[in-house]
Amino acid sequence: MSYQNILVETENYITTLTINRPKKLNALNRETLSEIHDAFVELESDEETKVIILTGSGEKAFVAGADISEFADYSVEEGKDLAARGHKEVFDVIANFKKPVIAAVNGFALGGGLELAMAAHFRIASENAKLGLPETSLGVIPGYGGTQRLPQLVGKGRAMEMIMTAGMIDANQALQYNLVNHVTPLEDLMELAEKLAGKIMKNSTVAIAQAIEAINANYEDGVNGFEKEIEGFGKSFGTEDFKEGTSAFLQKRKAEFPGE
Ligand code: COA
Repeated sequence: MSYQNILVETENYITTLTINRPKKLNALNRETLSEIHDAFVELESDEETKVIILTGSGEKAFVAGADISEFADYSVEEGKDLAARGHKEVFDVIANFKKPVIAAVNGFALGGGLELAMAAHFRIASENAKLGLPETSLGVIPGYGGTQRLPQLVGKGRAMEMIMTAGMIDANQALQYNLVNHVTPLEDLMELAEKLAGKIMKNSTVAIAQAIEAINANYEDGVNGFEKEIEGFGKSFGTEDFKEGTSAFLQKRKAEFPGE
C-alpha cells in the first residue's frame, strides 16, 4: 500500500514506520491517523515484520501532537468522537499489537505524539527529545490515552504535574521518570532501536505475543492479570516454539524458533 503521510520500510524483519509530515512537525491529522491504522492492520499479518519501530521524520520532532488546525472548531460530540475513534483505531491497536512496537522518540513528542509513544510497548529517546502533554494549555485534556498511560508509566503525582503545568521534560528527565528506557545521541537512535529489535527477534514471537497480552492485562479493568499469565503460560506448552526453545537449551545449541 502507498501512503502520503507515513513511510513504511521493512528490512531484516524490522519495519520502521516513520510519521512523515516534517513541515508540520509530524502532527497527526486525520489522514495520518488513518494511514497508521491501515499500516498496522497490514503489518499484523506481514510475515516479513517481526518488530515495529515508530519514529518521526526529520531531526526536530517525533510528533508534535494532534493537528490542532483540524479540531479547533469541533463541537462536544465531534470532540468525543475524535478521541473515541483515535483510541479504537490507532492507540489501542498499537498498545495491544501482538508484535513488539518500539517508539524511537527523535525530538518533540507532545500531546498526541507523546500518547503515540506511550501506546508503543516501550520507548527510547534521542538527547534532543522534549516530551509533554500540553493539552490543558489549549483548553482540552489529553484524549488519546494520556491521562491513563502517563500515570501508569511515571506515577500519579508526576503525571498530574506534567498535565497541569502543560510543561515539557527533556530526555534525561524522561529517563529518570521511566517514561523512556534509554537515551542516545540523535545519530545513534535508530541503531539502538534496531539493536533492541535484533535482541527481541532472537526470542519466540509466540511467547512475546503472550507476554504482551499478559503484561497489558495488568492495566485493564476487570481483567485478572495473574489469570491471564497462567493461561498464557499454559498455552506456551502447546507451541512449536516451546519445543524448539527447550530442546535447543538441552542440546546446548541456539534456538531457531519457527514462530508457531
Ligand atoms: N498541530 C498543527 N500544526 C502544528 C502542530 C500541531 N500540533 N505542531 C506544530 N505544527 C506546525 C506549526 O503550526 C508550524 O506550521 P507553519 O509553518 O505552517 O506555521 C510548523 O508545524 C512548525 O512549527 P513551529 O511552531 O513553527 O515550530 P517551533 O520550533 O517554533 O515550535 C513547538 C515547536 C513543538 C514548540 C510548537 O510547534 C508547538 O507548540 N506545537 C504544538 C504542540 C501542542 O500543543 N501539541 C498538542 C496538541 S493537542
